[in-house]
Amino acid sequence: MCGIVGVAAERDIAPLLLDGLRRLEYRGYDSAGLALLDNGGLKRLRRPGEVARLVEEFERQPLEGEVGIAHTRWATHGAPTEQNAHPMFAGERVAVAHNGIVENYEAIKEELTTGGVVFSSETDTECIAHLIDAELSAGKDLATAARDALARLKGSYSVVVLAAAEPDAILAAHRGAPMVVGLGESENYAASDIAALLPVTRRYRFLRDGDLALLTRGSVEITGAGGEAVERPMVESEFGPESVERGAYRHYMQKEIFEQARAVRDTLLPLISGGLPDASMFGPEVGAKLGEITAVHIAACGSAFNAGLVARQWIQDYAKLPCTVEIASEYRYRPPPCPPNCLFLAISQSGETADTLAATRAARERGYRAVLALSNVATSSLVRNVEHSLLTRAGLEVGVASTKALLTQLAALAMMALALARARGSREEEIRSLTQEAAALPGLIEQLLEMDGRLAELAGNFRGREHVLFLGRGPMWPVAMEGALKLKELSYIHAEAYAAGELKHGPLALVDDRMMIVALAPNDGLLHKLRSNLEEVRARGGQLFVVSDPDANLGHEDGMIALRLPAPPTALQAPVLYTVPLQLLAYHVAVQKGHDVDRPRNLAKSVTVD
Ligand code: M6R
Repeated sequence: MCGIVGVAAERDIAPLLLDGLRRLEYRGYDSAGLALLDNGGLKRLRRPGEVARLVEEFERQPLEGEVGIAHTRWATHGAPTEQNAHPMFAGERVAVAHNGIVENYEAIKEELTTGGVVFSSETDTECIAHLIDAELSAGKDLATAARDALARLKGSYSVVVLAAAEPDAILAAHRGAPMVVGLGESENYAASDIAALLPVTRRYRFLRDGDLALLTRGSVEITGAGGEAVERPMVESEFGPESVERGAYRHYMQKEIFEQARAVRDTLLPLISGGLPDASMFGPEVGAKLGEITAVHIAACGSAFNAGLVARQWIQDYAKLPCTVEIASEYRYRPPPCPPNCLFLAISQSGETADTLAATRAARERGYRAVLALSNVATSSLVRNVEHSLLTRAGLEVGVASTKALLTQLAALAMMALALARARGSREEEIRSLTQEAAALPGLIEQLLEMDGRLAELAGNFRGREHVLFLGRGPMWPVAMEGALKLKELSYIHAEAYAAGELKHGPLALVDDRMMIVALAPNDGLLHKLRSNLEEVRARGGQLFVVSDPDANLGHEDGMIALRLPAPPTALQAPVLYTVPLQLLAYHVAVQKGHDVDRPRNLAKSVTVD
């Protein structure tokens, strides 16, 4: 989604803005631009397409300035053209870069147009620039003008504003979408994501909903929703520029897949104490309540939703608790009934997904015993908006496809299920042994990564396909969903997942010799059922790709492509371990098709609009 960066300094900051934009590229965008206050006048440069195109143009016609803003735009209102790229101008008096959506922009645009304002873009953002311009023309200072203009907008968004009338200042606002202020030496910054600021600072003040910040090179003044001066705590981040280096890897996604053993190890370490799950993983207050919990509700999107579905099985099997998992955008509108002593858990790698944030806000009104968050980003809106959170330790994930973030979510969720089971009186020996199985995951993931070369070879079988079905049973069904999600988002091959037993209730009609079917076949109590499903596929000429335990004795049949895990996983380990070859498969298919695996088309790293 869109990205914002702003800098007020005592040096030419155009290179800083362009570098900030490059660091925001991972979020997904389709045009880019920057605006600078140059000798008191506003100048801008915008280009559709990649930041590299903007940089090329900048080299042809450089701009200079000590105060400026820049933006990567992910088109919502209007095509990704130069005209619609941010920053938006009102004359050469006001420049605005904006993330999110102004829901009532049509009414405002009509009013402004009737009043004689001429619009030069199709965006909702341009309204903001003209509204602020009108308030400034009425004699207000920038902070007051912005506050009064923003008060008219509906929706969830963040903005940065430059005004020729106050050439030393940048105005930054947080209205539901993230905005952080970075603190430097004789310079200050604003950004929608700390990734933009990693080379220049580790010190941040995170704005809260409704805050405005007025930055100059020497000062940061923050005011709260009511216009009162407020202090927001200074946070020192552990992330530096090295956190997003690609190193020797060809793609971030590849690097992130290969970091998974480390990431899972780092995530598990603080959750295990004395060989048992630490009940206080969400804080001591939640730990004390675990034994009283009667149900768990989970809300999440995309891969995090798939992680929630796997967790449902663990929570049911180990803690014997009912668990419902909802897509966050659905939870908002049809939340399940909330029984007494029910836990709510939001799962979000970024902690900035608008739907998950909205579901969590809704959950907070509903009388849950506790509202919890599982996130990879300590400073995210999600973590800051709930009282109790658990952090995965994946490190920054740059590739749009979730890999190490998902695996660390699974590791943390397994421990959460075991903590619930322990609090509800399961035998300590059983929990201890399951904890050991979880602790063995990093080593087993390392072994699986050795299958990389084989998966690169096998990926050739998928390149020319248009449709792939993924089949799994029990906890392997959400793993199949994750495999299908990875393949479709990276390779643009239509991929769907089915609980294998559903095959004959409809999807079997699609199976012919052009259809590839990926089946996940751990050697569990459901294997004989799965075998029958695979026979149904073979009988219709479908090409089978079976990922199985080494002892499942599958793959000798004609035409079946078999990939065997190096060692048979336990039931707890299987969903985590079977995910890894599917990630590698999707990665290699996409690379072989020549796609940008780190930034697949039309997608964004964190989806900050609902
Ligand atoms: O940051 P989140 O975990 O909230 O993101 C949720 C989804 O947008 C995300 O998992 C998405 O589906 C990924 N592209 C999947 O690879």
